[in-house]
Amino acid sequence: ETAEGQCDVTTLVQRYRFGSLQPDTMVYGIIGWPITHRLSPVVHNEGFRAADIDAVLLPLPVLQGWESFKATMSVLLADPEFNLRGLCVTVPHKEHALRFVREAGGEVSDIAERVGAANTIIIGPDGALTADNTDAPAIIETLGCDPSGSRIALLGAGGAARAAIASLVEAGARVDVFNRGAERATALVEAMDNPMCTLGDLDEVSGYDVVLNTTSVGMEGGPDPDGNAAEELGLPDWVVEEAGVVYECVYAPRQTPLVQAALAAGTTVVTGEAMFLAQAVRQFRMWTGCEPSSDRWRQLID
Ligand code: ATR
Repeated sequence: ETAEGQCDVTTLVQRYRFGSLQPDTMVYGIIGWPITHRLSPVVHNEGFRAADIDAVLLPLPVLQGWESFKATMSVLLADPEFNLRGLCVTVPHKEHALRFVREAGGEVSDIAERVGAANTIIIGPDGALTADNTDAPAIIETLGCDPSGSRIALLGAGGAARAAIASLVEAGARVDVFNRGAERATALVEAMDNPMCTLGDLDEVSGYDVVLNTTSVGMEGGPDPDGNAAEELGLPDWVVEEAGVVYECVYAPRQTPLVQAALAAGTTVVTGEAMFLAQAVRQFRMWTGCEPSSDRWRQLID
């Protein structure tokens, strides 16, 4: 038995390979706050095991704020014996990750630069840092239709919205942004500075090829777990019913109220775990150069 909040022995041994870790085992982490419900340790540790790579990925809960992020990174990187080789970065640190790598003189990928946030850090054997963003290409890969020429109703104006818009407009989609807070939506559209990305107008909604939710509405433990994101933002039901695809970024629970409504209407649905898997596969490739078994990963998180 272990104390409340501690990792139990089975998880320590099976997921984190306690007992076979060596001084030179490569260490990866998922950095965010909070990091409960995170699937990254499950899939990446399985990937390392299957590819026979001596590495482990650990949860690294780091309080919100730039100073917390910077202090943690500085300490972890200062000790070469810790052998930190890469990070998944999640809310609220994706923008901090980009800033940290830039200020440390590392490399920032074009897509991370355009999104203004990084969800992946790669650390070379010599400590060289690279910041990248695998959320953006993962959305295109799993969209369920050809983005070129498609019309997208994008719900939300936070970091996830930014990643989606940056990749969608680049792929030739037209994106209308709907958000609870008008100021934030306006700021996002202005920052994107692309005629393909405009503010959504509830008085002029028309049919959309894709309704894409990046808000935290419907998320377990979030501000509005029982809410349907499209409804909350005032979109009429027929928009979801007639959409070609409803794309949900939330993956806990598997069936958010938006997903349930779309399924009930017979609309094609892409759920959050598809995006999660696609971005995680890309991270694993970047870190290891190996191709993980996404079928096995899907089984693990189902
Ligand atoms: P992330 O980086 O994951 O996108 P975020 O920056 O906190 O997270 O953004 C959360 C998004 O969910 C925002 O678009 C937020 O709307 P506001 O900009 O108006 O805050 C949206 N959101 C959160 N709770 C909501 C709610 N109860 N109703 C509608 N939108 C909500």
